[in-house]
Amino acid sequence: MQKFKTKSDLSFYLSSLADPLIGFVPTMGALHNGHLALLRQAKKQCSVVVCSIFVNPTQFSNKEDFNSYPNTLSDDITKLEKINCDVLYVPDVSDLYTIDEKTKHYNLNGLDNVMEGKFRKGHFDGVATIIEKFFNIIRPHKAYFGQKDLQQILVVKSLTKQLNLPIEIISVPTIREENGLAMSSRNKLLSPKQIETASMLYKSLKFCKTNKDKFSITNLKNYIKIQFSEQLEVDLEYLEFVDANNLQNISFFQENNNAICIAAYLGGVRLIDNIIF
Ligand code: PAF
Repeated sequence: MQKFKTKSDLSFYLSSLADPLIGFVPTMGALHNGHLALLRQAKKQCSVVVCSIFVNPTQFSNKEDFNSYPNTLSDDITKLEKINCDVLYVPDVSDLYTIDEKTKHYNLNGLDNVMEGKFRKGHFDGVATIIEKFFNIIRPHKAYFGQKDLQQILVVKSLTKQLNLPIEIISVPTIREENGLAMSSRNKLLSPKQIETASMLYKSLKFCKTNKDKFSITNLKNYIKIQFSEQLEVDLEYLEFVDANNLQNISFFQENNNAICIAAYLGGVRLIDNIIF
């Protein structure tokens, strides 16, 4: 695996390859099986796979969350080498941002005003800023994102369309722990007992899907909120029933493209998940 610390070395290397089909997997490190699923799919569909590891400061509205983000670089490199990732880009902040650089503001068609965007102010401007930079440096043909971050995928698709970039954005199904908890780098911050408790996020989503013909959305929402209020360790931030294409709230289930999205705090660790049907 080729490793690069600077965008100039990386783009020089990529431009020296003869007719590559570049697949890009952006990550913030602390790699888990969810990331490896993105990389495996990229390996199947592309001739060169580039993975980036960069904890992007501009997408964190909470300093503590940024500072506590897990860092397991040497383990990550071992995992990447094992699955034959071709290129790793692991820059310092100074390679991507000038001192005092401000996050760009994007028109994300309202996708950034709901759910994650509502509770993490400026988060998607930060994500769009770094993704635009990565896309310009790497010029991938395909870029891979996990379905756990459904809102991020829609934001990146909207960004790519606005910038008129010829990049296919590929959504890869969420990989889960045995108990259903969506894999996330933040799970590394949870104790084994908290991991067990955290399984209630996905169990709640599954309950709603299973009972979609029996109960109204309002009743399902109220029922899940009561379950969470009885579990003192977990703080439910939001539970939204939306159209999976535009994230607008729905009052009734549609034939398809229903998404139920959830965010909750467990011992200070923020977890999100969703189910689409
Ligand atoms: O999903 C993530 O890990 C990050 O938001 C991303 C896409 C790497 C951008 O920093």
